[in-house]
Amino acid sequence: MMHLNRQFAQFARFALPTLSFVLGASLAVVGCSSDDSSTNTNTNSGTDTADAGPDTGTSTVTDIRSRLANFTPLPAPPVESTTLLSDDLINLGRQLYFDQRLSLYNDVSCNSCHMLDEAHYGVDFPDEPVSGGTVGPDGVVPHGTRNAPTVYNAALHLYQFWDGRAQAVEDQALGPILNPVEMGMPDANAVISKIGPIYQQAFNDAKAAFPIPDGQDPATYDPMTYTNVGVAIGAYERTLLTPARWDDYLNGNDNALTSDELVGLGKFLDNGCGGCHNGVAVGGRAFAKLGAASSASVSPDLLMDPGREGVTNDPFDMYVYKIPSLRNIEKTGPYFHDGSVGTLEEAVSLMAQYQVGKTLSDADVASIVTFLKTLTGTLPANITAPEPLPDPSDPGGNTE
Ligand code: HEC
Ligand code: HEC
Repeated sequence: MMHLNRQFAQFARFALPTLSFVLGASLAVVGCSSDDSSTNTNTNSGTDTADAGPDTGTSTVTDIRSRLANFTPLPAPPVESTTLLSDDLINLGRQLYFDQRLSLYNDVSCNSCHMLDEAHYGVDFPDEPVSGGTVGPDGVVPHGTRNAPTVYNAALHLYQFWDGRAQAVEDQALGPILNPVEMGMPDANAVISKIGPIYQQAFNDAKAAFPIPDGQDPATYDPMTYTNVGVAIGAYERTLLTPARWDDYLNGNDNALTSDELVGLGKFLDNGCGGCHNGVAVGGRAFAKLGAASSASVSPDLLMDPGREGVTNDPFDMYVYKIPSLRNIEKTGPYFHDGSVGTLEEAVSLMAQYQVGKTLSDADVASIVTFLKTLTGTLPANITAPEPLPDPSDPGGNTE
């Protein structure tokens, strides 16, 4: 997946002036909100990052609210967009999300790797570090090199993908369809010739929501375009939010978290985790180097992938990743960009070592995990597969 979308590389570099930067965990805890997109306007040194030093603060449960300025609760869905998020558009996006005909061999949909049900929480199988894509006549299942992150709450990220090479979910959605190891369609025109006859009416019905490109006459504009496939899927993803007890707590309900969970929250903050994993998605809004505090300790296996350097070609971005969201983290293992870390305990322990330079006791790891489970949210209602749209060229049935 990482080498396909060179157009996103261009886009990402162009977006650099508005990047958020993580200046180190301890600093960020006291004042560097990664929600502030104007923190740094350095345009020529790649994705700036710095070492995360350990936080020296100690927590008490009573003062904890005063330390949560960098966190915000989920908004009501759908997440705002520049397009009109009509019901027609969202329903169309849902239809597309579940449609295997968007893949070359009619066997993979977005939902194959980002299953929306209670058992998967927007990721694939827990025993799959990397997902399998569309399977050709030779029976070979292609695999990428990265673990599938959850689509839940992804619309709130400032960056998509482990390397942040797309920003809006609308742009992200166009990647996997053409990715040879995912849905494998050869190009945008092939997608439109394949699904156009099936979807033309639904796109016409949602026409009011699609932005009309400059110079196009609205009266004759045909909305059945590849860009609009992304617009529709993105609109659906904007509804995929999972409010959790954490949100109740942030919204002022002191009883939403137990005292054990608040102790875990304190340890999460004391250990600098909140300096990187913060904001509305508890991550997803800035970049950091894997091994920020202790690069020498990072397992060599985790250094096979150049991370964001593969997008920007900037040596400063070597092993830099988007800081992942920790919402629903209990449910979305295995962990890290390559899915090599099996348990949440291990992920927390390695994070402390790599990013903060600390060795946490088993009790502290367990306490942080207790807090992290409060980020597990309730799934929305609109997540079941709709009846596939009939294919006019195949009146006998569909490909499901
Ligand atoms: C074959 C499996 C597969 C399919 C099919 C697939 N994805 Fe993904 N998805 C992945 C993997 C793996 C990544 C991470 C890739 C990377 O970061 O380079 C990803 C990343 C994402 C992200 C970014 C999330 C984040 O936290 O950065 C979103 C959103 C997403 N996919 C949505 C979709 C949508 C929408 C579709 C259908 C159009 C889709 N995916 C199809 C495997 C898949
Ligand atoms: C300097 C920034 C930084 C700090 C501090 C930090 N993290 Fe991370 N975290 C990251 C990055 C970047 C990744 C992605 C690493 C990768 O996959 O290679 C990550 C990944 C994770 C993951 C795995 C997410 C997934 O979806 O696989 C967990 C869990 C996690 N961090 C928890 C923590 C905890 C707990 C702490 C505090 C002990 C912490 N992090 C401190 C930046 C940070």
